[in-house]
Amino acid sequence: MRRSVHRPLQRILGQGLLTSRGKIHRKQRALLQPVFHKQCIAALSEVMAREIARWSDRWRDGATVEMAEEMTRLTMSITGKTLFNVDLESEAVEVRDAFVTVLTATRFNNLLLVSKVLEKLPLPANDRFRRAAKRLDEFIYQMIAERRTGAADHPDLLSVLVRMSKESPKKMNDRKVRDQILTFFLAGHETIASAMMWTWYLLAENPGPTKKLHAELDEALKGELPSVNDLDKLSYARMVFAESMRVYPPVWIMGRHALRDVNVNAWIIPKGSYVHVSQFLLHRDARYFPDPERFDPERWTLEATAARPKFCYFPFGGGNMQCIGEGFAWTQGMLMIAILAKRWRMQVVPGHRVELEPQLTLGSRYGMPMILKRRR
Ligand code: HEM
Repeated sequence: MRRSVHRPLQRILGQGLLTSRGKIHRKQRALLQPVFHKQCIAALSEVMAREIARWSDRWRDGATVEMAEEMTRLTMSITGKTLFNVDLESEAVEVRDAFVTVLTATRFNNLLLVSKVLEKLPLPANDRFRRAAKRLDEFIYQMIAERRTGAADHPDLLSVLVRMSKESPKKMNDRKVRDQILTFFLAGHETIASAMMWTWYLLAENPGPTKKLHAELDEALKGELPSVNDLDKLSYARMVFAESMRVYPPVWIMGRHALRDVNVNAWIIPKGSYVHVSQFLLHRDARYFPDPERFDPERWTLEATAARPKFCYFPFGGGNMQCIGEGFAWTQGMLMIAILAKRWRMQVVPGHRVELEPQLTLGSRYGMPMILKRRR
């Protein structure tokens, strides 16, 4: 089985890990894996925590924020700092806008903009996309060049990519390094942004679990900023995050293409078929999650989790294409809960209509305006 990827996505991301296949995919994966080892993520967690705290310092008691946007900007900023040592917040507005324009074009609704026929038409959106893609490429190539010549080395993904390109310039040319950078920017920020927006929404709508969460945070976190070691003490927060990704899985569907006939429990999937598995559907299957629409973090006690089959819950996929950033995502999500839920209570603006918008990740059709209330 091979991952089926929308061609327009491939044309934006090129041969990054998400869109490469077969042998190339296996090789890339093996080379990039060390960046996501537990110790490396722990080393990056300090930068994550500082960035989240800085964000929280900008929020004001009683203010209304568009949470979908806030989470997107925050996760993008964390991805930039941790994986590439770039501060997107201090970059020129046009670079940030270029990122947003290009990454937005990867969403399903906008994929038409880059489809083979339509991209040739003189539409303003096509012009905007082309200009943004050019500006973004300039920015990324400059980032690569600076790292290649610079004295400072950072233990991040960019260093690994640049080292790979020095060792085998043909196999990993600048274009391929650029593809990986864009891939990780996309895969690394939009998914967590979606997970966090829905977590704040679920907490706002469920006062019981929120009370328990606050009690745990107040009891376990005494110091200024939590470290990765503190996260081990937050078992209820972990259950909240797991349950949030059950109810609203950021990646809600995945596709595969059968390269030959495949036998699955006596069901034959003929060669050439496209198969889709949906996290959204399985996570709401009442055989495994009774009363599935109810947000109930208690489903994630060790005993309850062990009693369920493995693949009734798979927010990060599975097999040899399982999310490479899973550990990174858990650390970041837990730090956000630890820092932001400790300081803030969020409330959905009364009367706001909440409806799902399933794109590349699970969004909210009308955004998520929330009122911030300071706790401490
Ligand atoms: C809550 C956050 C996240 C969720 C729910 C998520 C989910 C997923 C899923 C379901 C896949 C597999 C897709 C498939 O098999 O077709 C995947 C792959 C991937 N994810 Fe994540 N992801 C998250 C965060 C991240 C982060 C933080 C990064 C990077 C820092 C990342 C990078 C990737 C990459 C590069 C792949 C492709 C892996 C491969 O093909 O070998 N993801 N993700």
